[in-house]
Amino acid sequence: MQRRPPTHWAWQVRLLHWLGVLLILAVAGIGLVMVDLERGTDLRKTLYALHKSLGITVLGMAALRVLVRLSTRAPAPLDGPAWQLRLARASHASLYVLMIAVPLSGWLLNSVAGQPLPWFGMVDLPALAAKNADLRKPADTAHVVLFWTLAGLVCVHAAAALHHHWMRGDATLRRMLPPPARRAG
Ligand code: HEM
Ligand code: HEM
Repeated sequence: MQRRPPTHWAWQVRLLHWLGVLLILAVAGIGLVMVDLERGTDLRKTLYALHKSLGITVLGMAALRVLVRLSTRAPAPLDGPAWQLRLARASHASLYVLMIAVPLSGWLLNSVAGQPLPWFGMVDLPALAAKNADLRKPADTAHVVLFWTLAGLVCVHAAAALHHHWMRGDATLRRMLPPPARRAG
């Protein structure tokens, strides 16, 4: 017998979604600030190291998220025209791709720049490519363009979620939040 689909996203999906939001915001904020700091200062070095370590954490979490998503049951799609459902699916898939492509491009940039990558000073990650001064600029551009594409899509995604919540009054946002506590008795 077919079980009814759950009313909410699995707690692991919800936890990784909101942890991911916080982490990506922090990594992006640090990235935007650090590039404007004076070269050679301790603060700049610390923020670069933090940006890279947290960015690699985003990459690991995104991989975990794909596994968790594939191994848990999703709630049933809410009512709406087919084109809207297709658009939502396509934008979610693009968010997954960008969540992986942005940190990977950062890792590639770090590699062609010949910089080491000690994840929180604990694990030395290997370079993805050999040091190459000619590739530094294109890798930098790729990282920045992919980042702004992610930022743009996240804005549309968050606006769509809030539109569903406030204008349409449906369960789209509620089911990505913890279910209401059951009353005792
Ligand atoms: C979710 C993950 C990431 C996000 C959202 C992100 C975002 C950013 C942003 C907004 C900037 C500033 C761009 C600018 O205005 O020039 C930046 C720069 C940079 N990022 Fe990332 N990044 C991520 C992951 C990584 C990772 C994993 C690495 C390396 C392992 C990395 C390495 C760098 C480097 C080296 C720069 C500085 C480029 C320069 O000095 O011109 N990033 N990143
Ligand atoms: C860095 C920012 C964000 C990223 C990368 C992101 C990514 C994603 C992804 C990939 C999904 C698809 C889940 C799946 O099908 O597996 C999703 C779903 C969702 N996100 Fe986000 N999200 C972000 C920010 C936000 C914000 C700020 C909100 C709310 C204002 C939000 C609300 C939602 C909701 C409600 C869903 C479920 C949609 C549905 O049931 O069809 N997200 N998010």
